[in-house]
Amino acid sequence: MGWNDNDVDALRRMAGLATPMVLRVAVTLGLPDRLLGRGAFVEELAVELDVAPGALETLLEHLETFGVVERTVTGFETTAFGANLRVGAGNGLNDLLHSDTAGGRGELAFVELAHSIRTGAAAYPYRYGQDFWADLAANPGLRVAFDRQMTNRFHAQIPRIVAGFDWSRFATIVDVGGGQGGLLAAILAAHPRMHGHLVDLEATAADARDTFDARDLGERAQVTAGSFFDPLPAGADAYLLFDILHNWDDEHAHRILSRCAEAVRPEGRVLVIEGIGGVRAGSESDLQMLVIFGGRERRLDEFRTLTAPHGLVLETVTELTDQRCLLEFRLAAG
Ligand SMILES: C[S@@+](CC[C@H](N)C(=O)[O-])C[C@H]1O[C@@H](n2cnc3c(N)ncnc32)[C@H](O)[C@@H]1O
Repeated sequence: MGWNDNDVDALRRMAGLATPMVLRVAVTLGLPDRLLGRGAFVEELAVELDVAPGALETLLEHLETFGVVERTVTGFETTAFGANLRVGAGNGLNDLLHSDTAGGRGELAFVELAHSIRTGAAAYPYRYGQDFWADLAANPGLRVAFDRQMTNRFHAQIPRIVAGFDWSRFATIVDVGGGQGGLLAAILAAHPRMHGHLVDLEATAADARDTFDARDLGERAQVTAGSFFDPLPAGADAYLLFDILHNWDDEHAHRILSRCAEAVRPEGRVLVIEGIGGVRAGSESDLQMLVIFGGRERRLDEFRTLTAPHGLVLETVTELTDQRCLLEFRLAAG
């Protein structure tokens, strides 16, 4: 059978690793920031960065082909397009591409995708020798970068998440794995009668405390540094799992759900915010969850199956944003 040249070209472009790696190395070397303004010549830059000048020039020439840098009389310079990759650009790209951040390191585990496909398990520990969370615990820099990435990723969407659901039905809510507290702070700020309690690992919990204090919410927001595999603060009206379950395989997801189900008041709710496979989450993010965490973007029927052994019944599905849905579970009567 013959082939169509356009198809072959398209497939080659899709499969090429040069450009994704060039972007990552450029960001890791700090080129978008360093080449802003007057830019620099290859020779001085190579000395400064302690890299091989010829190879650096090849890298810069490839960046030039898709408009990240341009050659000027003062050497290579970052373009307005390339400036999106700066550390302070605020769009999350730098954290995603820098090889020494949690996000960038996680993405590079895709090199071992075949391991995940063969075994159904995360590729991250296969590549780095320990799982993602152990890696963060051992490397405070990775933890800082991950927390920053998590806080920034939904910053702009938080108002819609707060407005898209009637949080005021609950007098008390526990944000399980609540990160640095951005969402809980916004919910509490919008509903002055509500009280919140955030549970997360030590370093992140300390940041959450700062978030609540900075917004004058300290009186209504408690923070517990601890694991969601241990008993949770008991007796609240709602337990929120925002982008938690998709990070875990079924065995761990069951353990987290059982902690929520045992802690919630009998008439309370467990709330899950995620992309939901086939609704708001596509195959790319499903693969990311698999490769990095051994998790997955579960579909609605998989959520029903996962939660049933904990007596949790899916009551409503609310489409919050173009990326996230909220699933509301109640405890089955009796
Ligand atoms: C994907 S982030 C989501 C954070 C936050 N819910 C949000 O959506 O921005 C997962 C969170 O789970 C926390 N986490 C991971 N393992 C944990 C554990 N064993 N106990 C409590 N929190 C944990 C992480 O520190 C992180 O804040």
